[in-house]
Amino acid sequence: MAILFRSGPASTARWRAPLTEALPDHEVRFWPETGEPADIDYALVWHPEPGLLASLPSLKLIFSLGAGIDHVLRDPTWPRQVPLVRLVDPYMTEAMSEYIALSVLRLHRQDLDYRAQQLAGVWEERAQKNAAERPVGILGFGALGQVAAQRLRAIGFEVAGWSRSPKQVPDFATYSGKDGLDALLRRSEIVVCLLPLTPQTTGILNAAAFARMPRGAAIVNAGRGGHLVEADLIPALDSGQLAGAVLDVFQEEPLPADHPFWRHSRIVVTPHVAAETHPETAVNIIRDAISCCEAGRTIPNRVDLARGY
Ligand code: NAP
Ligand code: GLV
Repeated sequence: MAILFRSGPASTARWRAPLTEALPDHEVRFWPETGEPADIDYALVWHPEPGLLASLPSLKLIFSLGAGIDHVLRDPTWPRQVPLVRLVDPYMTEAMSEYIALSVLRLHRQDLDYRAQQLAGVWEERAQKNAAERPVGILGFGALGQVAAQRLRAIGFEVAGWSRSPKQVPDFATYSGKDGLDALLRRSEIVVCLLPLTPQTTGILNAAAFARMPRGAAIVNAGRGGHLVEADLIPALDSGQLAGAVLDVFQEEPLPADHPFWRHSRIVVTPHVAAETHPETAVNIIRDAISCCEAGRTIPNRVDLARGY
């Protein structure tokens, strides 16, 4: 009975000790030292190479080493009969809410303008308003979106959330479906994307969406690069329809050195770090899910393949 861990070298180094300490009764193998594939019951993966999961004939569970699972689904050969579990870790959720609060405040308080003014040595006051006067809309009102909303509300923002299914969430306006998206975009001066990447959400941040937002609105994308139609962003910024964008995720990561987003004055780029997985807390979630699996109990946060997330 063995566990296979497959991620990049830096992540493997961070996980090695916490994982082996949390699961002393299991043999943990770190890719590429896979050993006999038939021994492997559990796979813990981040961007596994196509074919890896299909080559493990005894798998009982696949864990995504993050909240998103698009990196597993993009492999057409992944074994769909094996339950796929994603990480929902309060530590990560807090980290994401910090990132969203920071990003929304940067946009709200015109940090991009004041930064540019500082570099140019310009002392000039800009019109100011309070958070309560800047409506924020969150696309994706799930585990991450709702906690980020609470943090923004605590600062004073009027926050609304958009989800696939209709929901009632105390203190927040909620929207769902196509009409709901239209209404949320029209009311929101800052739109935050915390959606999973699915065929329905791919390209949702596009020229048509920007045109429906109030002039001078801004976006924060911490979902996936595939949510943004990258070619639509710079024209929307240059025309003034959008005033700024904070982007953590990109179509191609790392963002290529010659990509125009790096040097655009109204775009903030961060290297997919909004909410890193935290091995010290995530190992406990993985250990508990393995116990559930071995005891025949329901495994939390199993991905619903019909929904695609
Ligand atoms: P979650 O709990 O599954 O929430 C997803 C939300 O999106 C739900 O509210 C869901 O609606 C909504 N949704 C899904 N498809 C939709 C559609 N077609 N139309 C409208 N709403 C839709 O997921 P989560 O844990 O919050 O994570 C969300 C995503 O954040 C992940 O998939 C990942 O891509 C991204 N992420 C990024 C980072 C980073 O560092 N940048 C870190 C962690 C996660 P329902 O409520 O109706 O189901
Ligand atoms: C990070 O992007 C995650 O999905 O956890």
